[in-house]
Amino acid sequence: MLILAFESSCDETSAAVVEMTDSRRIIKSNIVASQIKTHRLYGGVVPEIASRAHSEAISKITYEALDVAGVTLGDIDAIGVTNTPGLIGALLVGVNFAKSLAFANNIPLVPVNHIKGHVAANYFAYPELKPPFIALVVSGGHTSLISVDSYTEYKTVGHTRDDAAGEAFDKVGRVLGLSYPCGAEMDALAKEGDPDAIKLPMAAIGGDNLDLSFSGLKTAVVNYMNTASQKGEDVKSADVAASFTKSAVNSITVKLEAALDKYGYKTLVLAGGVAANSHLRGSLEKMCARRGVKLCMPPLSLCGDNGAMIGAQCYFEYKNGVRADSSLNAYATGSVSF
Ligand code: KG4
Ligand code: ZN
Repeated sequence: MLILAFESSCDETSAAVVEMTDSRRIIKSNIVASQIKTHRLYGGVVPEIASRAHSEAISKITYEALDVAGVTLGDIDAIGVTNTPGLIGALLVGVNFAKSLAFANNIPLVPVNHIKGHVAANYFAYPELKPPFIALVVSGGHTSLISVDSYTEYKTVGHTRDDAAGEAFDKVGRVLGLSYPCGAEMDALAKEGDPDAIKLPMAAIGGDNLDLSFSGLKTAVVNYMNTASQKGEDVKSADVAASFTKSAVNSITVKLEAALDKYGYKTLVLAGGVAANSHLRGSLEKMCARRGVKLCMPPLSLCGDNGAMIGAQCYFEYKNGVRADSSLNAYATGSVSF
């Protein structure tokens, strides 16, 4: 079936056309209009500006997505749209646009959870991938370990108790003078530094749980920078990036190993913007090879927010009978099991 899908939960407006069957998963178009340059001026996403930019972009990118895919609205079998979690004003733009297209053209409308969409990005790269498996969703807004019990049943088994991993990368990057969002630059900088130069705390919460906490690690970096500046000492940015990255990556890896022990899954799926981090990918590759676990990682182009991933999850929700009517709403926060 042909699906037109929308994503507008944060600072990317995206529309995509995907063709999905049980054995074929094809991205026919995946247009992403990024607002990064606008938000960079403020050092982070400004929700009000994001909503306005989504409103300005969504119509144009929809017709671009249909054009690039070589289809018209008449060919579309279902419309999928992210309706949770995310910035409420940003989500509402996508939801209302999708609603009007769906009802004006008599096309079934399917609400899609953004986190499920991130995980579903992997179904394009790994058509053979089937639940159950354990997934790590790491982005600017989320850090969750999820037991994916079926294509549509997700259970959060661990999460960050404060900052998301991507948020921590962005905040540490900002202290180092990098420009928002800092993840990719931090990744490159860390390759040039000594990961053992600075002793930093782990971000894994001690005890029998699968939770993480990045705020202590972030504060330790800020304190290190302040102390060095008070003493007039030179700080090597690359060492800070490498030491922070080592602690963040080791903490995530430790909790994922604990999750694999606890749930016994033989497949680990990585998703979200921070899934692009080369150090994290390398660490998980090693850990999974040692344990004989299959590791799925989306191509870099599908790690960040995009409409195609929403289209992939839309297919499974549609098959499960999920439909929305014109009362469909957006919700800023989602639930633990979804
Ligand atoms: O999934 P995403 O595009 O949007 C959210 O749903 O948040 O993730 C964006 C986040 C940002 O915090 C960005 O700095 C981070 O992903 N990121 C990275 C890398 N590339 C993007 N973090 C670490 N290393 C990277 N290579
Ligand atoms: Zn995301």
